[in-house]
Amino acid sequence: MTTSVIVLAAGKGTRMNSALPKVLQPLGGEPLLAHVLAAARALSPQTIHVVAGHGMAAVQTACPGDDLHWVEQREQRGTGHAVAQALPHLAEGSALILYGDVPLVPPRTLGSLRDAAGEGVALLVMQAADPTGYGRILRDAAGRVQGIVEERDATAAMRAIGEVNTGLMAAPVALLRRYLPRVQPRNAQSEYYLTDVVALAVADGVAVSTVAAEDPDDALGVNDRLQLAYAERTLQRRRAEALLRAGVTLADPARLDVRGELRCGRDVFIDVNAVFEGRVVLGDGVRIGPNAVLRNCTIGEGVEVQAFSHLDGARVGDRARIGPYARLRPGAELACETHIGNFVEIKQAMVGSGSKINHLSYIGDASIGAAVNVGAGTITCNYDGVHKHRTVIGDGAFIGSGSELVAPVTVGEGATVGAGTTLRKDAPAHQLTVGGGRQVSLPHWRRPAPKDRDGG
Ligand code: UD1
Ligand code: CA
Repeated sequence: MTTSVIVLAAGKGTRMNSALPKVLQPLGGEPLLAHVLAAARALSPQTIHVVAGHGMAAVQTACPGDDLHWVEQREQRGTGHAVAQALPHLAEGSALILYGDVPLVPPRTLGSLRDAAGEGVALLVMQAADPTGYGRILRDAAGRVQGIVEERDATAAMRAIGEVNTGLMAAPVALLRRYLPRVQPRNAQSEYYLTDVVALAVADGVAVSTVAAEDPDDALGVNDRLQLAYAERTLQRRRAEALLRAGVTLADPARLDVRGELRCGRDVFIDVNAVFEGRVVLGDGVRIGPNAVLRNCTIGEGVEVQAFSHLDGARVGDRARIGPYARLRPGAELACETHIGNFVEIKQAMVGSGSKINHLSYIGDASIGAAVNVGAGTITCNYDGVHKHRTVIGDGAFIGSGSELVAPVTVGEGATVGAGTTLRKDAPAHQLTVGGGRQVSLPHWRRPAPKDRDGG
């Protein structure tokens, strides 16, 4: 049977107090809506309709996809009104309605919900520890669902009900076509509530079944920053547990943040407060030190990234040692067994195998060969105010401490550059190049003496 997914994502999210549309608030490094779309896609439905409105252009840009059919809801007049905007575009078959602000729902739960509906309506419900803000499920004495009442419209007795509506619903498209036009905005918010479809169906003798969320955290609704923070911790805990199960050692699963996708080889160790963003791949036996930040990086086997290092867009070869306090920027490509030490910044540069840049250096727009030693405080002067220029250093070269390499410039293979040299011309291979003025000493020079206090 055809399944159409409808994702409601038009709301402003007033309770967020934010300029950003609610469904674009980030969770685990991605918009709330991206999580919902990923779960929907896992079901391989025939179509996915996204009802957008508030900040629609921004929402479309942030969540692209050829498989998405966008439906505009110009005025946000309630969840029932939102679904009604999608109705004319739906093929007959079953509909699965998801909320853009319910991001942690597992695909298997969506599958159960779809299968439970049959010819009737199926609701995903949960027992909430704190039901505040959710619609309550009303049942008769025999336990049959009678309807859903929103908190604002509920009596005190109804508010005491712990079983709540997660918002997710499955029903044949034909039923939605029958009942949505009958929904009236007679409630505290003067909105067209999707939830009112339930009482209308019950009155007609249509079967209404419920599927309980396996874990109440699966169906968290995110309306404000407190719920967003709670959802973030829930997601991070789940990601940490998945890494532990896959064989990664975490010094503390509660002090890890994965804001994207982290793939790990065998026997990886991650110390506390590491942050991973975008796509990060760690090879076998990698060790990540405390407070390291890695974004869009590929790290080879046996690499050690020590404390407080910041790696962004870097590729690091096997058994390299990075940090502590190293900074790798986009285009940093380090071959195997390289050593990059404290306060070293590398950008758009290749560093050959076994080369060492251990202290206080800036290497930008450079190509460094194998077995090169770059002394402390070396700077590639790559920028003339308008253009960037390249520095090339051959295999086995030795750059003395405190050197400035004024690009474009080439240091030949096996060349030695004396400490403190400002290199403005190429340094030939296998020769010593020393720059700077000639050193002089003045034997008769005296330091100015401080004046006698008594004025003598
Ligand atoms: C809704 C449910 C409530 C349920 C809760 C679960 C209704 C009337 N209430 O309440 O029973 O317990 O979710 O999280 O459905 N939206 C639109 N267009 C609109 C209004 C909303 O697209 O005109 C979207 C929002 O962007 C959001 C979703 O629908 O993604 C839910 O809307 P929201 O206002 O957050 O509903 P709740 O008050 O949370
Ligand atoms: Ca909500």
